[in-house]
Amino acid sequence: MNLKNVVKSLINKRYFRFFQKINMYRVTYNAFRYDALRYISHSNSFLKFDTEDKLLGQIIAEYHAIEKGICMPQRRMGFGKQVINNLLDHCMIYLNRYPLYHDQIKHAVAVILEYQRIHHGVGFKLDDDLEEKMSQLKRQINSAPARQVTSTKEAFFSERYSSFDKFSESRHSVRNFTSEPVSLEKIKQSVSLARNSPSSCNRQPSKVYIVQNEQLRRQVLELQNGNRGFGHLATTVLVVTENLSYFLSINERNEAYINGGMFAMNLLYALHFNEIGACPLNWCAEKQNDISLRKLLDIPDNEIIIMLIACGQVPDTFMLASSPRKSVDEIIRIYGE
Ligand SMILES: Cc1cc2nc3c(=O)[nH]c(=O)nc-3n(C[C@H](O)[C@H](O)[C@H](O)COP(=O)(O)O)c2cc1C
Repeated sequence: MNLKNVVKSLINKRYFRFFQKINMYRVTYNAFRYDALRYISHSNSFLKFDTEDKLLGQIIAEYHAIEKGICMPQRRMGFGKQVINNLLDHCMIYLNRYPLYHDQIKHAVAVILEYQRIHHGVGFKLDDDLEEKMSQLKRQINSAPARQVTSTKEAFFSERYSSFDKFSESRHSVRNFTSEPVSLEKIKQSVSLARNSPSSCNRQPSKVYIVQNEQLRRQVLELQNGNRGFGHLATTVLVVTENLSYFLSINERNEAYINGGMFAMNLLYALHFNEIGACPLNWCAEKQNDISLRKLLDIPDNEIIIMLIACGQVPDTFMLASSPRKSVDEIIRIYGE
């Protein structure tokens, strides 16, 4: 008889279940505490900018916001004033601390110069202190202005039947759509392909809510914080969820996010294959917004929301953010023979 059975035989069944429950809470608390402490120590949300990676992450997010602004269907001159200001400050802090700068910093500067070139090009006067910071930065890094990509519908989908390398390189987040609706049939075909994603023990906890109704779509997107300037053009919004009831132990606490991320990636490829423009949208929502979205779409409590995807028909000509990637050497670590 093992220890568990000895204890079980000694105490009343009801008390045993009670202690079992207490123990489960203890194990759960410790597991989440383990994750939380790592997040608190290393993410840029608490102790800010004390490492190169934290600064780099912030700078990439900021230059990407500017890239997005440049590519918006209706570009607004003077857009992102606060973001470009912060980006300039963060680049200066970075360069003072880390003179052997990362490639992404060079791109950040290139995006800043593209922002400046676009505004100068139409005679829009930027604030003097912004101009001064830009000149300072130019003295530190010699970079040409970046160029966001202009594509055509035909070119964008031309690699549908190509080899995987070409197909993969041809997919990009689209933030410009026509008013022509996306056929439900094509969305269903895309979801069908996304089912080929691997999932833990083939448990397939993913689900997709397809929102085409105009009013509901607008209400859903109002709860999401990354679709300003283009979300209103999406004619379909997808919500990817994962069913927590499929997971077996506390050690699987993050599996839903992994399964959901993999499913969503396959769905993005499938949408691209079916000639539907798509942009993944984060669901880093406040508690209240999470509750509101659940109510709106009747999403049960046992499902977690992974992300939203804005979908639509792609215009004949449109812009794509350049979003350059890190080098392979930077993201691999080899353990040889
Ligand atoms: C989890 C996740 C959340 C994202 N959230 C947003 C978002 O809220 N708004 C947006 O415009 N793009 C969003 N994106 C798109 C990224 O900005 C985009 O994937 C990245 O810049 C790389 O560009 P690409 O998709 O064109 O290759 C998100 C992407 C992912 C994977």
